[in-house]
Amino acid sequence: MNSRVKGKVLVAAGGGVAAMKTPFVIRRLRDAGYEVRALATERALAFTTKTALATAAGSRVATEEAWFAASGNALHLELARWADLLVVAPATASGLARAAAGLAEDLLTATITAGVPKVLWAPAMNPEMWHYPATQENVSRLRGWGHFFVGPEYGALAAVGEGAGVGRMSEPETIVEHVHYLLTPKDLEGLTVIVSAGPTREYFDPVRFISNPSSGKMGYALAEAARDRGARVVLVSGPTNLPAPWGVETINVERANEMYEAITSRFDKADAVVMAAAVADWKPAQTASQKTAKKPGKNVVELLPTPDILAELGRRKERQVLVGFAMETADGRQRARGKLERKNLDFICLNYPTKEGSAFGGNQNEVEMIFPDGSVVETGRISKREVAEAIWDRVRDLIRERNEEGARNAQ
Ligand code: CTP
Repeated sequence: MNSRVKGKVLVAAGGGVAAMKTPFVIRRLRDAGYEVRALATERALAFTTKTALATAAGSRVATEEAWFAASGNALHLELARWADLLVVAPATASGLARAAAGLAEDLLTATITAGVPKVLWAPAMNPEMWHYPATQENVSRLRGWGHFFVGPEYGALAAVGEGAGVGRMSEPETIVEHVHYLLTPKDLEGLTVIVSAGPTREYFDPVRFISNPSSGKMGYALAEAARDRGARVVLVSGPTNLPAPWGVETINVERANEMYEAITSRFDKADAVVMAAAVADWKPAQTASQKTAKKPGKNVVELLPTPDILAELGRRKERQVLVGFAMETADGRQRARGKLERKNLDFICLNYPTKEGSAFGGNQNEVEMIFPDGSVVETGRISKREVAEAIWDRVRDLIRERNEEGARNAQ
C-alpha cells in the first residue's frame, strides 16, 4: 500500500479469456488506494460478469447497454473526464485495432477518443495474433500517440491446447505497479540515484559463507519508489529472492568488495546514494578454491574487515546526498549519530531489527531519520514503500536546497 499515489482509474475489460482476472486487477487497485470504476465491452461479458466487476469496483459497471440507455447522459464523455487513467485489461487484438483506427463505435473506444488523459493497455491474446503485423503496427501507432503498454508476457496460455508463449496478460500486481508509475508525480526527474540492497556473502570456500538475514525488501522498495518518481535508478543488490524491478538498472553482486566496486565506480555520476544493504563487516582472510573438508575439534578462522563502502563515499562526496541505515539493538540514537558523523552522511535511518514489525524480511519498518543538526523525524510503523517515500522526500529537499544555494553563489 502506497499512501502517496491517489487517482481515479477506469478499468476496462476487453473480450478475452483473461477478463476473468479483471476483477482482481480492480481489487488490487482499490487496495492500493485508487478510486476505481469498471467498464466492460460486450464480448468481455462472455468471460466475466457485471456482478463480479461491480463487486470488485464497488460501483455500477459501464456497459454498452448502459451507454445506450435513454438516460440522456453521454457516458463516454463522463468517463473520459472522470478518469486520470484508463487501464484496458485484457486488451484484445481487436480492441487495439479499433483504437488505433480512431474508431468510436463502442463505449471503450468512444471513451478513448473522448480524450481520457492516459491509457495503459495490458494485452492478452494468442502469440500469433500478438505477432501479427497489423497488431504490432497498431501497438506502435498507439505508443506514438503516448499510450502505454504492460506485457503481454511469456507463460502458459489459457486456451486449451495452446501451451505457452508470449500472449499472457501481465499479473494484476504488475499492472498495479505500472499504474503507480503512471500516476506518481515525477519529483525526482533528472536525478540519478544509487540504492544498495540485501546482504553480502563472504565466502570461506565455494559453498560456505558469512552473511545475514537481510531480505533486500527495504532497498528494493527504495529503488521502485525512486523509479516511480522519475529518477534514473541503479540498484546494487546482494543475493535476494526478489525479482529485479522493471525500469531499474540492477547490478547483482555477492561480496562486499564487488558491491564496493559497483557503487564507487558509479558514484561520480550519482546525485544521491542510499545504502540499505546489510554489508557483512568481516570476510575470511582466505577463501579456499575447493570445498574444505571438516576437521574434528575446534577451528579458528581468521577474519578481515570488509571495505566500509559508505565511509569511502563520505570521503569522496562532493554534491551527492548520502544516506545510511543503522540497525541497532541498543543505544540506537547515540550509535547512529556516531555513524552519521564518522561516515559524513546527510542523514541516517535508524531502525531496530528486534522491534515488533521491523524484523528482517517483514513488509513494514519503523525508522528514525537522524540529521547532522540533531533533528529527528520518526516515521512510525508503516510499509517499507512508505518509509522509502519519506526518505526520498528528504533527499529531494536536500538536493533542492543545494541547487538553490549553488544558484545563489553563482550570482
Ligand atoms: N556499510 C557499508 N559498508 C560496510 C558496512 C556498512 O557501506 N562494510 C553501510 C551500511 O549499508 C549502512 C551503514 O553503513 O548503511 C551502517 O552500517 P552498520 O553495519 O550498522 O555500521 P558499521 O559502521 O558497520 O557499525 P557497527 O558494525 O559497529 O554497528
